[in-house]
Amino acid sequence: METNHTLLFQDSCSLDQIPSNSIDLIVTSPPYPMIEMWDTIFASQNPAIAKAIKKQDGNKAFELMHKLLDSVWDQAFRILKNGGFACINIGDATRTLKSDFAIYSNHSRILHHLFQIGFTALPEIIWRKQTNAPNKFMGSGMLPAGAYVTLEHEYILIVRKGGKREFKGDPEKQNRRQSAIFWEERNSFFSDIWFDIKGTRQGLIDKATRSRSAAFPFELAYRLINMYSVKNDMVFDPFLGTGTTMAAAMAAARNSIGCDIDNTLYESIVQIKDHIIDFANESITKRLKSHLCFVEERIASGKDLKHQNSSYGFPVITNQEKELILNEVLAVEMMEDNSIRVMYSDHPQPEFSCQTTEPVFKEKPKTTHKNKQLSLF
Ligand SMILES: C[S@@+](CC[C@H](N)C(=O)[O-])C[C@H]1O[C@@H](n2cnc3c(N)ncnc32)[C@H](O)[C@@H]1O
Repeated sequence: METNHTLLFQDSCSLDQIPSNSIDLIVTSPPYPMIEMWDTIFASQNPAIAKAIKKQDGNKAFELMHKLLDSVWDQAFRILKNGGFACINIGDATRTLKSDFAIYSNHSRILHHLFQIGFTALPEIIWRKQTNAPNKFMGSGMLPAGAYVTLEHEYILIVRKGGKREFKGDPEKQNRRQSAIFWEERNSFFSDIWFDIKGTRQGLIDKATRSRSAAFPFELAYRLINMYSVKNDMVFDPFLGTGTTMAAAMAAARNSIGCDIDNTLYESIVQIKDHIIDFANESITKRLKSHLCFVEERIASGKDLKHQNSSYGFPVITNQEKELILNEVLAVEMMEDNSIRVMYSDHPQPEFSCQTTEPVFKEKPKTTHKNKQLSLF
């Protein structure tokens, strides 16, 4: 199996080279309107924004910034296939203009537009980002009534174009089964509050670039891709930044296209190819080990696992996980057209115990999952 990853450096307000109905999933995080670090980039796209900020006209600046994002959401709707999802990470902004402190509700403004252009809004995720900063409390301190609650969450808006995606024919259905996630992953991934995603990805890109571009964590993109697409799908990020979505697509065996207006990010993004093999395979190992820990705990607590995964031989809870396979990344190649090709193994990694990275099974277990004396532990 192999996937292809294409970089575009241009304004995502017009994406003529991407055909309509060609993208399976969008995972992205735009520049956040009314957060100061993004003022310049918005103003460079519409000088009226700079004027509004100079006049301290927060409402006007907010609306003009969102008008620019609206054009990208319009493109997103056009290029998505029917049944395709868009997952948009966005935070609201607090800001004081003309001595007035206010919240600018980016998530509701975006959702409103998405709804107007025809997307179906689905339950969203609150990404809880706790801060320990000493100055996190805003306003009059202990004195009522002029203090403001601290913003410690962002949103992941989830919308779909059209109705449910259909999987037709045996190859598509098999690919979907092989793209399954573990039962215990489903329980946390599909919770509407994510507490457990921290930090940006280490080791793929230098720290300075990460903070300059407000990168989201690798795990966030990787989860969303595993939740809302299948292997070989085409994932698109119109605000690619440091390339996190592309790295996650590579690790999850999906194709991707990433677009950013800032071409100075090129060097940082292509660095991904030097690290993605180790990074992706570590993510896979972590998921497998974590599953084995889950199995161990479940067996220890006297609970049953009714099924067996055919690739790894370990027990799984549901029939839907029987064909699940996580494809290791074997090689990465930079192509002449500047796209990146990633090649994968079609065979499972050696199995791991929950405690160590030593392979545990010498051969596929002959015992059934109902037998609590599994050689695995
Ligand atoms: C919040 S950052 C994205 C960070 C990214 N998720 C990551 O993990 O690195 C937003 C990005 O959008 C880009 N951007 C802003 N306006 C754009 C536009 N109109 N078209 C394409 N990219 C744009 C910025 O250059 C910035 O890199």
